[in-house]
Amino acid sequence: MHSDLDRILVPGRDIEAKVAELGWKISRDYAGKQLLTVGILKGSTIFMADLVRAISIPVSFDFMAVASYGLSSSSSGVVRILKDLDESIEGQDVLLIEDIVDTGLTLNYLLETLRTRNPASLRVCVLLDKPNRRRVEVPIDYPGFVIPDEFVVGYGLDYGGRYRNLPDVWVLKPEVYGKKNSEFRIQNSE
Ligand code: XMP
Ligand code: MG
Repeated sequence: MHSDLDRILVPGRDIEAKVAELGWKISRDYAGKQLLTVGILKGSTIFMADLVRAISIPVSFDFMAVASYGLSSSSSGVVRILKDLDESIEGQDVLLIEDIVDTGLTLNYLLETLRTRNPASLRVCVLLDKPNRRRVEVPIDYPGFVIPDEFVVGYGLDYGGRYRNLPDVWVLKPEVYGKKNSEFRIQNSE
C-alpha cells in the first residue's frame, strides 16, 4: 500500500506514552503558570495537537511556518519566515514545538529570533532527535525519541507532502530519496 515505506521506527503506542510523559513533565514544570505553545508548521501539528491535550495547565497556541533559503541555507542556517506569530510573545512563557531536529540550524535560528522578542521564558519540545547530523548545539528541554540518521515520515512528518497522517513514524526506503536527503529537505516546507 505504501511502497515508499521501509519499516515502522516509532510505533504510535510508544508515541502516545511519550506524549503523556512529556505532557506530565511540562504541566509540573509550569505549574501555576500559563503556557504559549508555538508549533512549527506543518510537521509539528499532529504532535502538538496530542501534546497540548496531555498538558493540564492553561495553554494557548500559535504557529510559525519557515523555509530554508536555497541550497546554501544548509550551511548558512538562514531561515525564511513564511508565517510569523499572530501575537506578541513578550513576557510570556513560550514552548517551541518541533517535529524533528536534524542539523539544528532551523531550531537555532528560531530560538535566536524569538529570544529578541523578550519572552519570560523560552523552551523547546521536540518529538524526534537525529543527533548524528547536528551542526549546531541546540537545547532540547523536552526530548521525545533519539533516532538514527534515516529519513522518517508519519505522525506529521512528510515526504513530498505525503504520509503526515500515518499514526506511526516510518523509515522511508533509502532508494526513494537516494543520496539527496539534504537537498530534498531544503525544498521541503518544514
Ligand atoms: P534542521 O536540519 O534545521 O532541520 O534541524 C529540521 C527540519 O528538517 C526536516 N527534516 C525531516 N523531515 N523527515 C522529515 O519529514 C526527516 O527525517 C527529516 N529530517 C529533517 C524537518 O522539516 C525539520 O523541521
Ligand atoms: Mg517536512
